[in-house]
Amino acid sequence: MIINRSNIVAALRRARGLIGLFLGAIFLAACAVHPKPSLYEQLGGREGVALIVDHLIERIGADDKIFHFYAETKISRFREHLQGQLCAVSDGPCHYAGDSMEQVHAGMMIQEADFNHLVELLIGAMEDAGTPVPAQNRLLARLAPMRGQILHR
Ligand code: HEM
Repeated sequence: MIINRSNIVAALRRARGLIGLFLGAIFLAACAVHPKPSLYEQLGGREGVALIVDHLIERIGADDKIFHFYAETKISRFREHLQGQLCAVSDGPCHYAGDSMEQVHAGMMIQEADFNHLVELLIGAMEDAGTPVPAQNRLLARLAPMRGQILHR
């Protein structure tokens, strides 16, 4: 074959295509070995979720605006069920065993401001637990649709 400029250019183009395919294959293989972590994993799994719930309980206990709602609450049950719920909504290996959000919060007369305040305490608890901000936002987005089931109507 005569080696001229257009042959070299064509060979380089073919090589570029092959390199592209090769890099694409490496990328896919890396994704298969390290699939995108679930939200549960991003929250730190079982220990991460337990830490968030414990910090939330601490913050609720020290909060004048919210504590009165929980004055009669059995904390061990609340801890267990909130852990199960956060695990389940973040695609963890759990299933929520508590009562429905409507049943639990019925009659508490929870207002918009109370709900927003609890969300602030939860954000504080996630900060305390060292939860990465993107994971915090993903968890809040999954809890947001429960608002209508919790607020007093
Ligand atoms: C996204 C927001 C919320 C979520 C995901 C949530 C979730 C839960 C869960 C899982 C439980 C345990 C249920 C059970 O034991 O069967 C619970 C209980 C409780 N929640 Fe909420 N909650 C939210 C907002 C609120 C707000 C805004 C208040 C009040 C200001 C509140 C007050 C309570 C109280 C007092 C209990 C304990 C009830 C009892 O003593 O049995 N919650 N919540």
